[in-house]
Amino acid sequence: MQPAQGVRFIHIALSREAHEIELQAARSESPEELTALGERLAQFGMFNKAHTDGEELGLYADLELKAPHVRAAYLHDHKEDHELFVDLANRIIAAREASAATRPGLLTAMRRQSIALTEHVVPHVHKEDTLITPLVCELFTPAEQGAQIGKMMGGFSPELLAKAIPWLIRMIDADDRVSYMQMIQKVMPPERFGIACGWIRGGVNADVWSGITSRVPGIA
Ligand SMILES: [Fe+2]
Ligand SMILES: [Fe+2]
Repeated sequence: MQPAQGVRFIHIALSREAHEIELQAARSESPEELTALGERLAQFGMFNKAHTDGEELGLYADLELKAPHVRAAYLHDHKEDHELFVDLANRIIAAREASAATRPGLLTAMRRQSIALTEHVVPHVHKEDTLITPLVCELFTPAEQGAQIGKMMGGFSPELLAKAIPWLIRMIDADDRVSYMQMIQKVMPPERFGIACGWIRGGVNADVWSGITSRVPGIA
């Protein structure tokens, strides 16, 4: 596996989170349920924005130098993506604050937009996995790709990373957890990797954590 292929882990997590939020939107009706939905969307929006910012800074900036004009369509998607998050968040608030008479119509519109968000996020990351990752593998050495992954993770503040890494681990499958841990073990300085392990240990079920420690050497 080349380092650039590691981006697929967060893409899987983002896609699954979008699907889960869509399902949660379909079930949410009461003000309490809509508050919980809004909070989950807000966290997802922060993870997604940190990912797209990191990608633009750590990956697309480099790519533009070697393959000009490829990035424009992807950056355009990122911008539309952020607009969809704001729109859905506003619709959740509107439905929550509506009267019993007007809420059903607002819920229908809100649920439609939750599907729109999924159908924007998922094809975008799929397009990146299918078209951008192979191009990056072709144009950059593994060392350059490793530096790009490091810069992309720099899109996350330490506070956000403390939440995002355990979330990502929860969202991906057991084999991918092992590959992901091996990847960040390589790109992170040992001290920061140790901190990340602490975040994961505290943020996932004990069996998920032991599933990782039993298969990745160098993790206590
Ligand atoms: Fe992207
Ligand atoms: Fe991406």
